[in-house]
Amino acid sequence: MDGERVALITGAGSGIGRAIALGIAARGARTWIVGRRAEALAETVAQAPKADLCTIAADLTNDTELAHVRDAVRADGDTLNVLVHCAGAITPGSVQEALVADLDAQYQVNLRARFQLTQALLPMLIAGRGDVVFINSTAAWGPRPGVSQYAAIHAAMRSLADSLRAEVNREGVRVLSVFPGRTASPLQRRLHAVEGKSYRPERLVQPADVAAITLAALELPRTAEVTEIALRPLTAPGD
Ligand SMILES: NC(=O)c1ccc[n+]([C@@H]2O[C@H](COP(=O)([O-])OP(=O)(O)OC[C@H]3O[C@@H](n4cnc5c(N)ncnc54)[C@H](OP(=O)(O)O)[C@@H]3O)[C@@H](O)[C@H]2O)c1
Repeated sequence: MDGERVALITGAGSGIGRAIALGIAARGARTWIVGRRAEALAETVAQAPKADLCTIAADLTNDTELAHVRDAVRADGDTLNVLVHCAGAITPGSVQEALVADLDAQYQVNLRARFQLTQALLPMLIAGRGDVVFINSTAAWGPRPGVSQYAAIHAAMRSLADSLRAEVNREGVRVLSVFPGRTASPLQRRLHAVEGKSYRPERLVQPADVAAITLAALELPRTAEVTEIALRPLTAPGD
């Protein structure tokens, strides 16, 4: 990755998205970062003042704001080399009690926005022979009580990535799904509070760990494609 390359990372105002954005920007790429809170994006920029980071404050569940993201990146050039989907949300609840409105809200940000943004930027990704990364979750894989909505949407996200890969590999575009287990982040801190658990971030995967393995996959020569990566906390793997 170098200064002639362009990347876009959603959810880059905190947690995993911020770590990946800082890692990509440190390699010299022009790096667009997206999230709803301008102040959170500004904090990411402040952590790498010399990097080529451009912020777009946008709610990706809003069609107009998502189109604004697409237009800003398009106006900047013809190609996109890396698109990382990291914006996401989780609202836990049992099947018995969870609200359908929460299912809809998680679908909007975790699946619909990712589909729509991929679709909008695909011509630029093909032109750049780029990489698309879906930050998924180990919740997509196994039965775990209390997160049926999130798990179902993430299983669908894996299918979206797999179908996309089958369509665009021939165009030179690679597609990677990353499945982190519990990772220290604001989302995970909130989840622990809802679950009534004490939050001990030092026992969890770190955002920098997810960034390191994601960047390693992206830096592999284009003779190879990493399709899936899973990582989990060493000391609390099934927590
Ligand atoms: N932490 C974990 O244990 C874990 C494990 C597996 C997978 N994941 C996944 O990893 C991704 C990143 O999560 P994280 O743990 O790093 O949590 P996080 O720090 O809360 O990051 C989520 C980011 O998404 C952004 N976002 C949320 N809704 C958005 C919207 N409608 N439009 C634009 N941006 C939006 C948030 O910024 P704004 O609030 O400013 O919009 C936030 O920066 C998520 O998809 C999550 O499901 C996390």
